Parts: sequence; C-alpha cells; structure tokens
Amino acid sequence: MSTSTPSALSFTETLSLLSLALASFGIIANTFRGDGEPLIASLAFSGIAYAASYAMIRWLGPTFMKAGLKGKDMSKVHKKEIPETMGAVCAVVYLLIIIVFIPFPFYKDIVAATSGGGNRDVVIELEHVQTGRFLHRFPHSKLASYLSAILSLQSVSILGIGDDLFDIRWRHKFFIPGIASIPILIVYFVDFGVTHIVIPIPLRPYLGGLFDLGFLYYVYMAAVAIFCPNSINILAGINGIEVSQSLVIAFLLILNDCFYLLAPYPHPATDSHLFSLYMLLPFIGVSLALWAHNWYPSRVFVGDTYCYFAGMVFAVVGILGHFSKTLLLLFIPQIFNFIYSAPQLFRLIPCPRHRLPRFNARTGLMEPSVTEWQYPPKPIVALFLKMLHHLHLLRLATNHEGQITESTNFTILNLWLVWFGPMREDRLAIELLVMQTLCGLFGLFVRHNFALWIFESDNWTVR
Ligand code: UD1
Ligand code: MG
Repeated sequence: MSTSTPSALSFTETLSLLSLALASFGIIANTFRGDGEPLIASLAFSGIAYAASYAMIRWLGPTFMKAGLKGKDMSKVHKKEIPETMGAVCAVVYLLIIIVFIPFPFYKDIVAATSGGGNRDVVIELEHVQTGRFLHRFPHSKLASYLSAILSLQSVSILGIGDDLFDIRWRHKFFIPGIASIPILIVYFVDFGVTHIVIPIPLRPYLGGLFDLGFLYYVYMAAVAIFCPNSINILAGINGIEVSQSLVIAFLLILNDCFYLLAPYPHPATDSHLFSLYMLLPFIGVSLALWAHNWYPSRVFVGDTYCYFAGMVFAVVGILGHFSKTLLLLFIPQIFNFIYSAPQLFRLIPCPRHRLPRFNARTGLMEPSVTEWQYPPKPIVALFLKMLHHLHLLRLATNHEGQITESTNFTILNLWLVWFGPMREDRLAIELLVMQTLCGLFGLFVRHNFALWIFESDNWTVR
C-alpha cells in the first residue's frame, strides 16, 4: 500500500514494527518468570529501540523541517532539502531504553546476617547462591559505571543538538567531549584506577615490566573521548557513511566481546564485555533504524548529534570496559582520515566549510573536491603539497607557470576518488565500508594473535 505523505509509515512497515515491538515486550515479560536474563532482555530492548526510532524518525521528519533542522543533499541533481539531526531521535530513544534497562542487570548481595543499623556483616554473593556459569548480572558496584555512562552520553547529546541548532565553531566544540568524559574517568579512577601500561618484551631491559603513566593515562583516555566523536564527524559527507561506519565498529566490538564471553573458562574480563554488550545492542537497534532512512538515496540526514553520540558510545565502552587500545584498532580508517585532515583542520592549508566530494551532475558520479588557491601557496607549503602529489596522496592542478591553482581536499573520501577514479555515491560508501571492515578484522586478528609475541599474556590467553 502506498503512503499518502512521505512521513507516514506504510501498512507493511506498521505491521512489521508492531510485531517486532510486541514480540520484544513478550520476551521482556518472559524474563521475569525465570531469574531474569539481562542479555535476552537487552536484545529485546534493542528490538523496541529499533521499532521506536524507525517510527519516530519518519513521523518527526516534517516537524524537524519546520523547526529549521534540514539540510540540502548536495550530491544529487535535484538538491532537495531533507530533515537533519535525526540522530537526536536515536540518542533520546537510546538513552530512555538504557535507563529502563537499569533494573535488569544488577543484583543486590543477599545479606545473611546483620548486627543492625544497616551493617552487612555476612553477605552471600549471588555467585554462591546460584548455579550456572554466567549469570549475565552485575554486582551493584557496577551501577556507578552504568550511570556515569548515561551521564556522559547525555552531555554529549546536548552538545550535538546545540551544534546542529547553532553550528558551533569547530575550535569551540572540539574539547567538549573531553569534559563530558569526566564522569566515566572518575568512575575508572575509583573502580579500577590502573594507570600502568605493560611494556613489550623487547623494551623490558630498558623500561622494566610495567610503566606508570599516572595522570597522563587520564589525559590519554580523555583524548580517546575527544577523538572518537570528532573522527566520525569528519569522515562524513556522502549518504549513509556516518551511520554505516558506526555500525561496522559496533558489530566488530560485539565480535570482540563474544571472544571473551565464549572463552572456555569464566574470564576476569567477562563483566566488562557484558557491559559493552548492554551498551552496544540498543545502539545497534537505533542505528539500524536510522540507517534505513539515511542510506543512499538519503531520506534524512543524521546531523552532528549522531556522530558525537555514536563516538561517545564507543569511547564509553572502550574506557569503562578497559579495552581502549583494542577500540583504537577498530578506528584505523578514522585515525588515518584525522591525521590526513590535520593540515586543513589546523588551517595550515585553507579549509572550506564543506570538503565532501563534488557531485558531477553531467556524469552522476562523485569526484574529488578541491580547494582553490587564489594566491600561490608559500614555498614550504608548495613543497609539501608537491611531495604528497608525488606520493599519490593528493592531486594538484598547476597553471602554465607551474604554480599550484587547486589541491584536492584532505579527506579519505577524496583520496579514494583520486586513487580509483570517479564513482557513484553509494559505490564509494560501499567500497570504504568494505575497506573499514577489513581493517577492523585485521586489527582484531592482530590483537588476539600477535599480542602474545610482545606481551607474555594478554587478557584472555596466557602463553
Ligand atoms: C563535516 C566536515 C565537512 C563535511 C561535512 C559533511 C570537516 C572539518 N568537516 O563538517 O568537511 O563537508 O562534515 O557532512 O571535515 N551533506 C550532504 N550529503 C550527505 C551528508 C551531508 O550533502 O550525505 C551535507 C548536507 O548539506 C548537510 C551537511 O552536509 O546539511 C551537514 O554538514 P555538517 O554535519 O553540519 O558538517 P560538519 O560536521 O560541520
Ligand atoms: Mg557533521
């Protein structure tokens, strides 16, 4: 059945979303009959997250447009305006879902004897009461981690919405995720507090077995929290790429979690990876709903809110799950894009407001976008640009005097087009996502196989 307005759900969509939501509610109700199975409940909540975001993204489209939250799709023949900031819907649904989920994974120690006044003289931990290998449950001390995660995600969503409304300047908004990460850093401090790094075996004679980074370790974690959201936001500009890259990272993180949860013995890192699953499953739910609307040809844009929110979800699970270095292995394309972008980000080279690839209306293909040099660059900059050009890391255009007149913009999207020639927007997105997935799988492979060459144990195998 066709829809009368684009914002209405079709009959089939309504039916599917309703069935999904009802089935999910059923599963959640069922978990109350047993001893409550948080992992199953989390999956069901993710189903509800998907259904709710999908419907709301559609319904709220016109409302967002009316409020001025819209953007022009620059890479189409008819540059029509579509709703922007739909990531805000995802962030809100996500936050509500993980709040409703709070009662599920936490258990209270059972107090067996007390001398009164709230003293917990003898407590029976749940492990001793229950049988079975994994209970998928947290001691209530983990609640602090969970609540701090919510706090950080809320702060960063507010920043994102502010940015989408007022277009905050890059240099002003850059550090805000660092401040938003303070709650999780403090929980890390009181709960875990490890600031030592293990020195690789070949360097041990010089540095010893462990090296205490101390305060610098917190600076490093704040830097991760600043990097993840911003790096997703600048690997953007073609339909679907922001959500898809986030989904790839989320799925790879879940794969990594499964390695630990399916380990042949109860693993010390189990709790951290369960925490990661509880945060990531609903994230995948809301992101898939957004993906369905944002993939080529986009019906909505995600807005900066989504990029910040998604990046912060990853930073939170990486930091509180104690696997921030593994996390960075899944950000290889984003790290490359960030370093490659640095000359423009730090204004050593002029940076236009938009660096997204240029749409050629005649061929219908994407081409690298360029920065035009009104005046010839300084000799040192010209030398740098020419060097990159020779290394095939840039394309330059020069005039008859050999002066540089244009240089392609410093993003991985443009570089890909320099390397492989013009292509359609969706093709470009797919190729980049395949590359990202391969890099991520390679990163995980290295993490789980080669870590033992330079460390005598990693946190799930001992050599
Ligand atoms: C970042 C990039 C900018 C890039 C932009 C695209 C840096 C420093 N900034 O800026 O170079 O151009 O993202 O998102 O690298 N748009 C499309 N098609 C899409 C996605 C977005 O045309 O598939 C356009 C729309 O007009 C949309 C706008 O980009 O309204 C969104 O840009 P915004 O997210 O506000 O840009 P920034 O994140 O500031
Ligand atoms: Mg953006």
